[in-house]
Amino acid sequence: MTKIIDLSVKEKIYKSKKSKLSILNNFSLEVAAGEKIAIVGESGVGKSSLLNIIGLIDRDYNGEYTLLGSATNNLHTSELAQWRNQKIGFVLQESALINSLTIEDNIKLPLLYAGSGKKEFKPEDFESVINAIGIKPILKKKPLECSGGEKARAVFARGIIMKPQIILADEPTASLDMENRERIVTLLFKMNREFNTTIITVTHDLEIANRHDRVIHLESNSKCFAGVMKQ
Ligand SMILES: Nc1ncnc2c1ncn2[C@@H]1O[C@H](COP(=O)(O)OP(=O)(O)OP(=O)(O)O)[C@@H](O)[C@H]1O
Ligand SMILES: [Mg+2]
Repeated sequence: MTKIIDLSVKEKIYKSKKSKLSILNNFSLEVAAGEKIAIVGESGVGKSSLLNIIGLIDRDYNGEYTLLGSATNNLHTSELAQWRNQKIGFVLQESALINSLTIEDNIKLPLLYAGSGKKEFKPEDFESVINAIGIKPILKKKPLECSGGEKARAVFARGIIMKPQIILADEPTASLDMENRERIVTLLFKMNREFNTTIITVTHDLEIANRHDRVIHLESNSKCFAGVMKQ
């Protein structure tokens, strides 16, 4: 088995003036290339914080993290940017579309950032993604002219358009009806089968969680110091 993620967090601390919140205490995770992992757990337990760490968005924690065989603390800023653009696909809770761009241009944005660095991209890849998730009719619209579910599907398309090695999806189906929920899950798993993409999905939907290879239940073991919040 090729280990793609080897993460060991001692703790992640969020500090404010009045309090200090410590989450993900002694949390570790190993993921093999091509695995489908679901992460479940109650609101506030640290699921999104964990995805931010896995996706190299947050590097401010105590712990060790080896991603794709490289110790992430040795990665340079330029490598980090390239990894986040090309190796990791984000479909995050707070992902926003750029309102001045059409849906099509929003989805193609990661290709623009990658410039000539990304050789394997073919126009038919774009076609197949947008057809699979049924957003062809809204490609020329701007985000403000779209429904919440349409925007969620566009965010999803943007996250996977680069055919990344790892997809991090934070509640990707939360705002969708049954049909579109199924489209997203089907496409995720199709990428997994065809390209051996590693999938990490945060979801509150146990039916979806159970369709992954492994379900990780994140337990609340957070601590709060010198503040009113206690978990
Ligand atoms: N930037 C931040 N500053 C301070 N505290 C934060 C910050 N981000 C998250 N937290 C706190 O850390 C804890 C974990 O948050 P996180 O967003 O990871 O939870 P979650 O499991 O994704 O929850 P949900 O299911 O509601 O999305 C929460 O108590 C949250 O209030
Ligand atoms: Mg969250």
